[in-house]
Amino acid sequence: MAHGPDAHQPHEPHGAHEGHRPRSAPAGHHHDHTDVDWAEMATMLETQAELFAPLYERALGWLTEQQSAPGLVVDAGSGPGVLSGMLAEVFPGARIVAADGSAPLLDRARARADRLGHGDRFDTIVGELPDSLDRLEYPADLIWASRSVHHLADQRAALAAFADRLAPGGTLAVMEGGLPARFLPRDLGFGRAGLEARMDAIEQTWFGRMRDDLPGSVAEAEDWPAMMAAAGLRPAGSRTFLLDLPAPVSDAARAHVAASLSRARDIFGADLDATDTATLDRLLDPDDKASVHHRQDLYVLAAHTVHTAVRAL
Ligand SMILES: C[S@@+](CC[C@H](N)C(=O)[O-])C[C@H]1O[C@@H](n2cnc3c(N)ncnc32)[C@H](O)[C@@H]1O
Repeated sequence: MAHGPDAHQPHEPHGAHEGHRPRSAPAGHHHDHTDVDWAEMATMLETQAELFAPLYERALGWLTEQQSAPGLVVDAGSGPGVLSGMLAEVFPGARIVAADGSAPLLDRARARADRLGHGDRFDTIVGELPDSLDRLEYPADLIWASRSVHHLADQRAALAAFADRLAPGGTLAVMEGGLPARFLPRDLGFGRAGLEARMDAIEQTWFGRMRDDLPGSVAEAEDWPAMMAAAGLRPAGSRTFLLDLPAPVSDAARAHVAASLSRARDIFGADLDATDTATLDRLLDPDDKASVHHRQDLYVLAAHTVHTAVRAL
């Protein structure tokens, strides 16, 4: 999960000292590779969310303590709808609306809902968040937004808009932050020890550029409970959930590590030094016995935080 735009984990409070203000890239300042082609990432998003199912199950289990029988649940930034499907399972009496900017991903979410047998209580809304939620027919009892708010230009405004779409007593649950995932021993037996920590640092720079390049990007101190409170909600707790898949890993976990590192190489690999680039290339070479395709010491350890807040009755 770490390494790669979606994989991205917590980062320094970007612009923490800059206050809440619109910002734009300086004229002529252009960065490649910060635009994410979501449809292209469909399979990766799907397999990643499936691998992370145990973590999500525990997170949703925690949410049922706050909202035991919601009528309308919105998955904001649902992607291909793996979480939407889990929400449908956890809340069998709820209508589920998956909202996303990518129509191809929502097509997958719809197909998944039909396959899992809850297509009759499943809807989609395609369009830019948060404005697309204006098309909800009813206020929501639960809005779930996992790893989507950090892709929205004005995170504070997005949370305020989500709060506006909640029914009295409704819950907003935002999965953002946690810890950078780890897949590898510190010392791989070749290269320079500590590769993943250096990749994290480079990814943070990439992530900052990604946010800066969002049209209308607004700098924000990423204090999620404070932002939720500013949106008029009552913060109701933050909890962090682990995915702990020790070595030896399943083929699915191995494939996830390979996909994550490969995406990291594509996106910000050019910023690694020559030694680390060579190490990453070895790790990704299926013909190399020391690669992630073969090594026995691979593991997946990830921690994701869910922040919740409630709208007053
Ligand atoms: C990292 S994925 C998360 C998918 C899913 N929630 C999960 O946790 O697996 C982010 C999702 O947000 C969507 N997204 C990003 N920016 C958006 C925007 N401005 N409006 C609507 N959806 C957006 C993307 O299409 C993508 O599906």
